[in-house]
Amino acid sequence: MFFAESGLMAEHARHLIADRASARVLEVGLGLGVFAEQLAPYQPGAYVAVEPHAGVVRLVAPRIRSALRCEVAVLVQPWQSLELPASSVDAIMYDTWPPEGHADADFTRFVERVAAPMLRPGGRFSFFHSGTRLPEARARTLDQHFPGWVAHPHRLPPDALPAAWAKPTADFLVPIAVKGNS
Ligand SMILES: C[S@@+](CC[C@H](N)C(=O)[O-])C[C@H]1O[C@@H](n2cnc3c(N)ncnc32)[C@H](O)[C@@H]1O
Repeated sequence: MFFAESGLMAEHARHLIADRASARVLEVGLGLGVFAEQLAPYQPGAYVAVEPHAGVVRLVAPRIRSALRCEVAVLVQPWQSLELPASSVDAIMYDTWPPEGHADADFTRFVERVAAPMLRPGGRFSFFHSGTRLPEARARTLDQHFPGWVAHPHRLPPDALPAAWAKPTADFLVPIAVKGNS
């Protein structure tokens, strides 16, 4: 989690909802709230975050509530126990950073249990991805559940990287998958 990723998170927000009025947004993994803050210029209609760590929520949620002028709900639980009505959100951002070795299996379960059923037809799904190529397992999962998806490259400029930058690359993808009508 880095505030330095605000330009990247702004791209996720733009591709997800810039052309959608009053979008209902679900974010999975509140973290520092960097993505949530980038939604503000697009005036979402509602924002729901799912975050299991109460300490993170205590620190970050007040800042998000003052940044967004819409209904804000923060559910203190893991996404694995999330229950929302089917077809109830316009956009989903998934960014949980699971432990090494679990990432792709978790991703597939997330798409099956949450992203595909809870997005409305035409709704958009995005997720954090560090690097320039999606793993084949993720591409396969997207192919199975979404009729169309793209991955936009994004590079953080060197002067945006803090001294404590610990990731192996400044290259990212901003994937956007769109749910079909059936
Ligand atoms: C990399 S941070 C998210 C950064 C955030 N997108 C931002 O813009 O600041 C990952 C977050 O996912 C949360 N998380 C981990 N496991 C989760 C789970 N099973 N369900 C929901 N959130 C989870 C972590 O507690 C952490 O706050």
